[in-house]
Amino acid sequence: MCGIIGYIGKRQAQPILLGCLAKLEYRGYDSCGIALAGSSLNIHKDAVRVGELAKAAPQLEGTVGIGHTRWATHGEPSQTNAHPHCDCTAKIAVVHNGIINNYQSLRQQLTSEGHKFASETDTEVISHLIEKYYQGDLEKAVETALRDVEGSYAIIVLMAGEPKLVVARKDSPLIIGIGDRENFIASDVPAILDFTNRVVYLEDGDVGVITTDSMKIKRNGTEVTREKHKILWSAEQAQKGGYEHFMLKEIHEQPKVIRDTLVGWVPVNGVVTDFALMRDIGVESILILGCGTSYHAALVGKYIVEELVGIPVRAELASEFNYYGQIPPRTRTIVITQSGETADILIAMRRSREAGGKVIAITNVVGSTVSRIADQTIYTRAGPEISVAATKSFMAQIMVLYWLMMSYSKVDAKRLADMLLGLRQMPSKVQQVLDNEGKILECAKYLSNFENVFFIGRGINFPIALEGALKLKEISYIHAEGYAAGELKHGPFALLSGDTPVIAIVAQDNTREAMLTNIKEIKSRGAPLIVLAGEGDEAVEELADSVIRVPRIDAIYSPVINTVALQLLAYYTAKHRGCPIDFPRNLAKSVTVE
Ligand code: F6R
Repeated sequence: MCGIIGYIGKRQAQPILLGCLAKLEYRGYDSCGIALAGSSLNIHKDAVRVGELAKAAPQLEGTVGIGHTRWATHGEPSQTNAHPHCDCTAKIAVVHNGIINNYQSLRQQLTSEGHKFASETDTEVISHLIEKYYQGDLEKAVETALRDVEGSYAIIVLMAGEPKLVVARKDSPLIIGIGDRENFIASDVPAILDFTNRVVYLEDGDVGVITTDSMKIKRNGTEVTREKHKILWSAEQAQKGGYEHFMLKEIHEQPKVIRDTLVGWVPVNGVVTDFALMRDIGVESILILGCGTSYHAALVGKYIVEELVGIPVRAELASEFNYYGQIPPRTRTIVITQSGETADILIAMRRSREAGGKVIAITNVVGSTVSRIADQTIYTRAGPEISVAATKSFMAQIMVLYWLMMSYSKVDAKRLADMLLGLRQMPSKVQQVLDNEGKILECAKYLSNFENVFFIGRGINFPIALEGALKLKEISYIHAEGYAAGELKHGPFALLSGDTPVIAIVAQDNTREAMLTNIKEIKSRGAPLIVLAGEGDEAVEELADSVIRVPRIDAIYSPVINTVALQLLAYYTAKHRGCPIDFPRNLAKSVTVE
């Protein structure tokens, strides 16, 4: 998964391309490059971050150009493999996000026809194919070239001497930002928010020609009109706003995210908004799919469904489901994905649709691919999430699940009223966790000295143990495992020692007693113990080495506040270890490959 950008207009393109690329780095950051066109092409690229590229780049003149920030798939991160990629004449340059599945056979064919390849990438075949088919009409050459290509792509093509950009998409996102006598092309909205909030989302199969003041989009050779959308995200939302890292800013945004996500669904009069697809009387079971953090939201959803709705529910990893999962008749599928572009989710959705089931998507990105495939889309209102580690989007996802299942639930009116009250109190409870981070800071400093950590939880907090471990490992590089607390004694006990801290989530629900027993077992094996527990639960004091206190809350909502505490714990631990928190090594924000 990579970030791509294009600019055509009246201004010098280089600073615009570099500025936009810096905003796309969350999509990939192992190498980057830009190309500007005049009568010839000027390319500057390297295996460095955008900031370094900008410092080292000579001033390239031109008002039309393309740029790319890479997350390597074919070929190691290197200057040669960095995009843009050219043809043999060095007149055509291409930036690409996606995977060309048949690139090896295309490369062999093109090589036998005399084309010389410079890189190991799949992308380079596109530049050579365009060269092969070019007969004075760039758009036509791109269209013909793409007929040979199997796989996914969002591409921008630039040619020396041609004051236009040719764009195309299939299974990879691409938007056009409309300015005043200038146009922008990007893989994602945050890249261009400084310049415009008017965008067009390209659809699969679209090929477009973009000039300074025009946009012509064709599909199967016929011109089509694509709706213009106004983006509600502001440029400030995609900036750090005084915080050291996006992750910390996004953790702190969570009270607002909860409010924004619930607004409109949970009116003050206590009536929960109806949601037609869920209330379909034919629905007999629910399947919730996600990947990574969004899978953990799916798992929380499973517990919510069990408690509130009481019909069979499965939460599955989309990547696994795609190879074995069956969809029983009358199953409602819910997919959860922050980016709306995760490849495994898209495959799972297509499978669900083929099996005849309807799909509800929960996503944060308006116009994303999932929203085009889903029967109904619920947008989380988390705003742009830039840090690679998902925080506020997870929070918004589980808020949607609470609301959705409440709207479908058969619990009595008193319980529903209590739950609505609890939902409204959530922002202030989360704020309390954020305002009381002293103990978390202390525990983070301590944890930063270890290389292995266990997180344990039970019931609805078991997924939160998984999420706590995922957050810690991805940003601090400490090996962390989340476990169902009752399972430690079935193997992992062998690893417990003074060098293996255990973080235990104690909820005020029917799992509490069993959890206290588990904690005693761990303690007697000499592992340092950090306990996350509600205010006033004194029993944990004498068992734990450290206790992180969180506000008391209805147990069904305990994942919310426990998550916030564990996000902060991961963040400060990574900070102590000096890790690049917003851009962990080898990771990218949305995973568009299977
Ligand atoms: C972890 C993280 C990832 C994503 C996963 C799914 O912090 O961000 O595990 O949750 O890649 O991404 P989406 O939600 O975009 O489908």
